[in-house]
Amino acid sequence: MYRTHTCGELRTDHSGEEVTLSGWVDNYRDHGGGLFVDLRDRYGLTQIAFSPPDSSAELIEESKNLRGEYVIQVTGKVAKRPAGQDNPKLATGDIEIRATELKLLNKSETPPVSPSEKVSEVAGEDTRLKHRYLDLRRPEMQRTMMLRDRITKRMRDYFEEHHFIDIETPILGRSTPEGARDYLVPSRVHNGKFYALPQSPQLYKQILMIAGYDRYVQIARCFRDEDLRADRQPEFTQVDVEMSFVDSDDIIGMIDGLVEKLAKDVLDIDVPTPLPRLTYDEAMRRFGHDAPDLRFEMEIVDCTDLAAKSDFGVFKNVVEGGGHVRAINAKKGTSKYSRRGIDGLTEYVKGFGAKGLAWFRCDDEGKLASTIAKFFGDDLLAELAKRLNAEPGDLILFSAADWATTCKVLHALRTKVAKEMELYDPKAMHFSWIVEFPMFELDEEADSPEGKGTWTAMHHPFTAPLEEHVELLDTDPAKCRAQAYDLVINGCEAGGGTIRIHDAPTQSKVFELLGIDAETAKDRFGFLLDALAYGAPPHGGIALGLDRVVMLFARLDNIRDVIAFPKTQKATDLMTEAPGSVDGKQLKELGIKLDS
Ligand code: AMO
Ligand code: AMP
Repeated sequence: MYRTHTCGELRTDHSGEEVTLSGWVDNYRDHGGGLFVDLRDRYGLTQIAFSPPDSSAELIEESKNLRGEYVIQVTGKVAKRPAGQDNPKLATGDIEIRATELKLLNKSETPPVSPSEKVSEVAGEDTRLKHRYLDLRRPEMQRTMMLRDRITKRMRDYFEEHHFIDIETPILGRSTPEGARDYLVPSRVHNGKFYALPQSPQLYKQILMIAGYDRYVQIARCFRDEDLRADRQPEFTQVDVEMSFVDSDDIIGMIDGLVEKLAKDVLDIDVPTPLPRLTYDEAMRRFGHDAPDLRFEMEIVDCTDLAAKSDFGVFKNVVEGGGHVRAINAKKGTSKYSRRGIDGLTEYVKGFGAKGLAWFRCDDEGKLASTIAKFFGDDLLAELAKRLNAEPGDLILFSAADWATTCKVLHALRTKVAKEMELYDPKAMHFSWIVEFPMFELDEEADSPEGKGTWTAMHHPFTAPLEEHVELLDTDPAKCRAQAYDLVINGCEAGGGTIRIHDAPTQSKVFELLGIDAETAKDRFGFLLDALAYGAPPHGGIALGLDRVVMLFARLDNIRDVIAFPKTQKATDLMTEAPGSVDGKQLKELGIKLDS
């Protein structure tokens, strides 16, 4: 038997018992007369004392050969630590094992990533990823992996309680409609043909609804060849859900229940449901973004009408050109941002398309002051101050541009300023829904026969419009809103879904608007269109990004830290060195010739 207990288990109650533990040497301290070793496994640390009288002189000598990350088995008696030597920070901190036997199970080279929490400096990310086995041995990573496991299990329990069934869908399939680039797998049997790895199980889960499995869930691996960011991986996991005979409220309600349970079980926080909902239009108006961070306020205030009355050229020109002048009020911001600080913010917003950053500070009398104040009469300044709820010490920041640019700029600014001014508790969790997204967005870069860009589906082409907006498909597609909803946690899109179109005429109209002709539709999604013709129930669903949910629940900001074997920003795996080359024979079988 390698062990009778784990390294996190023993307490003073066990005093006097003979136990055997196995684990890794976390660190060791030579105390002249003997050696103290902290032995580690994923349950914790236990102090082992190699010292007289319990340990023999030979054993003490032998223990002095131990080094960090050696794997050992130790037998000895549990003893209460001598007074003053207990460690309240450690669950096992009241006891130690007085070693009588030691067996070296394996040695270790000096680790390039130290798994010990005693080593305060964590190695650089590339080194951690290359030696992921050592990185994953770090207690912090182990806690995150266990948190991920707990979240996944709770989710599975929840869906089971609600009569969902888990059905697996293929990894090798046809291209799916999420709009990112596909990962392709060449077929050996059919040279020149390719499978696409699923960007999501979207089409299969709709087919399952048509097949009568009215509550489906799957923890599904998805693949998207897109530019990576801190919250994106080329290979990630969705908690994929689809339901029949439901409307948006039913799906949102089901996920509200899940969020409430997870927050309670995992973080022990009470989240009141129903979660707050904001329409997309309102979110853009008040926060400039479709996944706003609602842990703090600092709402965007439209000042276009007042700006038009000023003599400030920049504002006047923008307003005359049909643009907008919008602002945020950084409460008490003057104490944080000096002139140089504002210059820094100005440089920052230029990265988001701003031409500049006009500002006012609110002086002790409550009056707005700035180098541009001279272009505004006293009355206008007072009106502005009132609209912006300006109080002494506040800093007002403006963006004057087209609507989309003001959204981008003020969203970026709002997020940055709130973080720098510590306007929220970094441990706070805020959950909300953004609903009624536009059906379409204009892809201005795409060529269309008319040469003015083409409509693309904001979510995917099977999304149903709001019932009262069906007519807008013909008259004003830009205004047409969808039965779509995103779950937002702390300013991050954690999940998204829609009610699907389940009738052929609406589907054809949407395809037409998207420039997908009948032949292309048949080629790409023919099987779904066929299936929809055989008694498709009204249905809809959602997919939560599991990695993102875990990242947010763990209060981390890097998705790689919640994935055991993630890819780098360049989509490589530094440990296995994937992607790698393949030999000529394999390529020949696949009928593939490389360009270079
Ligand atoms: P969507 O494309 O919005 O919807 O994806 C759902 C959720 O998956 C997560 N996600 C990602 N996580 C990590 N890395 C990525 N590259 C990545 N891309 C997406 C996000 C996102 O909210 N089939 C639809 C769902 C539906 O309509 O039911 C879909 O895939 O958290
Ligand atoms: P200028 O007249 O260009 O020197 O600009 C005067 C002030 O207006 C400076 O603080 C600029 O940063 C700011 N500014 C210039 N263009 C814009 C804009 N489009 N939106 C907001 N502020 C701007």
